[in-house]
Amino acid sequence: MATTTKNAVPDAGDWCGADPFAPDFRDNPYPALHRLRTADPVNLTPVGTWRISRYADVADVFKNAKTSQTLSDGTAPNFDPLDQRGSFLEFMLNKDGPAHRRLRNMAMQSLGGAKTVRQMESEVQQTVTQAMDQALAQGGMEIVEDMASLVPSRMMCHIMGVPLADRPLFNEWTAARTNAFFARFLPPEVQQRTRDAGVAMADYFEALVRERRAKPGEDLVSALIRAEEQDDSLGDVELAVQAIGIIIAGYETTIGLISNGLRALLDHPDQMERLRQEPVLIRNAIEECLRYDTPILFNWRVLAEPWEVGGRVLPADAVLWMMLGSANRDPARFPEPDRFDIGRQDVAHQAFGGGVHFCLGNQLARMEARYALTEFAQRTAGMDIRQGDIEWSHSFFRVMAKLPITFH
Ligand code: HEM
Repeated sequence: MATTTKNAVPDAGDWCGADPFAPDFRDNPYPALHRLRTADPVNLTPVGTWRISRYADVADVFKNAKTSQTLSDGTAPNFDPLDQRGSFLEFMLNKDGPAHRRLRNMAMQSLGGAKTVRQMESEVQQTVTQAMDQALAQGGMEIVEDMASLVPSRMMCHIMGVPLADRPLFNEWTAARTNAFFARFLPPEVQQRTRDAGVAMADYFEALVRERRAKPGEDLVSALIRAEEQDDSLGDVELAVQAIGIIIAGYETTIGLISNGLRALLDHPDQMERLRQEPVLIRNAIEECLRYDTPILFNWRVLAEPWEVGGRVLPADAVLWMMLGSANRDPARFPEPDRFDIGRQDVAHQAFGGGVHFCLGNQLARMEARYALTEFAQRTAGMDIRQGDIEWSHSFFRVMAKLPITFH
């Protein structure tokens, strides 16, 4: 955690009791985030970045500030400089302006449209039904493996056109690779594991791009190649990085949504019961799950010009960490923010980020969670569910590795 970004004033920085890299932060980050938002809502951290933690400020920066994803010298503020192969430097999330628009448009047709969501629906439905059949027969399930990761991993294999047998590879790689987004600040052993996963994923996806160039199909990689061939400016490496980025963005986060959402419902039996009685609340329930325990606690922006936030003018090249998890629990925006209420009105959260980088897969994620949570609400009715011990994943996102439950 020693490295600082170039605009840093490290001596002045303070974690304010909310160090996002501390091991205990993940168990329950919300008390610490409340302290941070109250004590220092525009917080200079010890590593020289600024944490923006009030809902109104986060929304304002996303909507109105002139920002970039990189520093003015083109470097990435949070990435590990030694992380080269499979690096997100070329991924759309790290790009600005026309370069970003082009990559986003290329992926949009395969991911963003209602058609893709419709196409994937029956597969998702079938997956969750089978998972629940098996769990009911066995008297319980391990929620992460048997439901929360099963659903998005099958969907991503389908979207990418890769064999289901490769699912275990993605499980391991994607969890490790999420750390790349803030790897500069992580311990050396985590950095190394992240780099190794980057190399393995680059090998796999660059080979896949070569294969699909020779023999195109109906999958996302072939669609990216077709879009790219119209002006021929992306190489195999850049194409592979889009596929890697999308698989990580679409897989890990959805595990978080389904498992954190189910955990919230199990922790609040009255809300689970309400969902059973009023299934039409499912869409609102998903939004409340995204607000209440969001899979990505923070993302980033770099100021392209000075900007006033929370009464402070921050300079150009200031690195902002947008504290989505804090914004979503801001009492100035959400009354009783720590209450989980699937009927909550006006639940417009920040879980999918904002502005031009707003999550491209939000509809897919919402659809997957809708089926998984509905299956639970409807088919475990009248049953006691006992939770076992939680284990957190080594993902950078807010994702569990294990959440066992038994039915009684
Ligand atoms: C609950 C699940 C998900 C959450 C919480 C989530 C969250 C996010 C966040 C916070 C960002 C960054 C936005 C920003 O910087 O403003 C993002 C970007 C992105 N997400 Fe998601 N995501 C989810 C699911 C998915 C899925 C299922 C896919 C695709 C299959 C996907 C694809 C992407 C892509 C491609 C970007 C980059 C967009 C760009 O740079 O223009 N995400 N997501």
